[in-house]
Amino acid sequence: MCGIIGCVGREDAAEPILSGLENLEYRGYDSAGVAVRNGSGLDTCKRAGEISALRDTIRAGLASGPVGIGHTRWSTHGAPTDANAHPHADCTGDVAVVHNGIIENHADLRADLEARGHEFRSETDTEVVPHLIEERLADGLHPAAALRDVLDVLEGSYALAVIVADSDELYAARRGSPLLLGIGDGAAYVASDAPAFLDATDRAVFLHDGDVATLSADGYVVTDGDGAVVERPERTIEWAPEDARKEGYDHYMLKEIHEQPHALERTLQGRLDAEAGTPTLDFPPGAFADAERVHLVGCGTSNYAAEYGATLLRRWGVEAQALLASEYTGAAPRVDGDTLVVAVTQSGETADTLSALRFAAERGARTLAVTNVVGSTAARECDDAMFIRAGPEIGVAASKTFSSQVASLVLLAATLVRDGEGAPGEEVRDTLRALADLPDQVATVLDGTTARSVAERYAGRESYFFIGRGLAYPVAMEGALKFKEISYEHAEGFPAGELKHGPLALVTEHTPVIAVFAGRHDEKTLNNVQEVQARGAPVIAVAGERADAVRRQADETLAVPDTHPNLAGLLANVQLQLVAYHVSKLLDRAIDKPRNLAKSVTVE
Ligand code: F6R
Repeated sequence: MCGIIGCVGREDAAEPILSGLENLEYRGYDSAGVAVRNGSGLDTCKRAGEISALRDTIRAGLASGPVGIGHTRWSTHGAPTDANAHPHADCTGDVAVVHNGIIENHADLRADLEARGHEFRSETDTEVVPHLIEERLADGLHPAAALRDVLDVLEGSYALAVIVADSDELYAARRGSPLLLGIGDGAAYVASDAPAFLDATDRAVFLHDGDVATLSADGYVVTDGDGAVVERPERTIEWAPEDARKEGYDHYMLKEIHEQPHALERTLQGRLDAEAGTPTLDFPPGAFADAERVHLVGCGTSNYAAEYGATLLRRWGVEAQALLASEYTGAAPRVDGDTLVVAVTQSGETADTLSALRFAAERGARTLAVTNVVGSTAARECDDAMFIRAGPEIGVAASKTFSSQVASLVLLAATLVRDGEGAPGEEVRDTLRALADLPDQVATVLDGTTARSVAERYAGRESYFFIGRGLAYPVAMEGALKFKEISYEHAEGFPAGELKHGPLALVTEHTPVIAVFAGRHDEKTLNNVQEVQARGAPVIAVAGERADAVRRQADETLAVPDTHPNLAGLLANVQLQLVAYHVSKLLDRAIDKPRNLAKSVTVE
């Protein structure tokens, strides 16, 4: 969603705020703005457009001041215009506010404020906040107390940062949207995500829902909604600032695709006895002995990683289902104290996934977050957390996090089998032995891929269909999602056997079919390939090096090293990422920031 940053204690707060916004742009990029205290009042400069194009204009519109806030927007209420860009001000111009989230009761609040004489300049839900603060400041409240009082009347989700004309402090609050403090020497920061301030400090404090923070050059204090001081632990962010830079690649996404061997090494580090083929996660033997069934919940790419994990668990005899987080609360199957609910979420902040988790926790389920972000809401709220250690992912489309999620789920699945009724069989051990080779095999795919020439031959067709069965099915689904997300071309994924039950009607010589082979049930998928070829569709197969029959039948083959069939989909997925990337590049799409999408979706 939107990205927010605030800074206090630097001579010229606008500079770190603008750099922070550039690092946060993946959270929203349809407008941006900054407000700083100029000594006698507040300067605000905001525009529709991307921060990279607006940097100079915004900088020129601001004085130097030691405290400020900035925002990069992904519109929810009101079109992306200059007026709707944040920061928003009150009537006097003495209060500036940036916000991520949705104020659900904004219409009622606005009507009341207008009746009391407040004039609004935007169509946003956010603008009620500065006006509400203005009234409380006029009543003589301290800004932090005014903010706390306003929070009592807000419904919905928010991360808020506020500055006022006559104070060198910065005020921040969160409920339902991520917000963390960065603690520097003589300076403090507040941001939606750590890359915003990583250039300045790696010391972070994650705020909890209901917290209100006051930041100054001398430090910070966090209170609860009643004003009582609360202690929040300080953590070190282990991501290096360069992890969040492009480092010579044309796009973050390409860099992140190429980071997968290293990311996977980190995911597996210390968690696997490769010789024995056993997992060595930090969960003691028997830790999951009580889990009678497993629900894996997630959205989008994370849902496909969850689907991969659930399919593997079922293969290994564990009752498991992948469920869309956004549908979970409405139609969850049985969930109780015997259920382990695994939240698969890169960001740990996806509102749909958090809702599903809370729903499960209320029914007594044990919860486990599989996430990339230490300190994220999912990690904090779950009974346990397993970090996928992929490093920061800036491209809006998930790439390396999918691979690290799936590798983590393979380890978790083996751990659940260990704690279940039957002893782990040879298949589990063989899979884990093969898992140790995965980072090198992904590197082999990246070195030898011909995805670019495939993209050149097939870019600009009418539609693209992705098919696979078993573990290749979630990979086909993820391949189609990635393709449509960044190329804006129509793409759909199907279980290979389902085509003949309807979608085959769409297949023509203008609709390439990308068939994923994972080394199991390949003959059946080959039949489906022949069915689409008979209708004129060209077929691009992604298959192991020894899949001769596939190579003979397909029009093109993207080869991956041979591995255990339980892992082949992970290698195939890298080829699909590259095809999506190269097609999108040929079509000149905004690969890192696809239209209408944002990295972390903190509204339901
Ligand atoms: C697609 C993509 C999204 C996310 C989804 C869940 O490339 O990135 O589909 O996977 O929004 O996000 P997380 O994993 O942060 O919960």
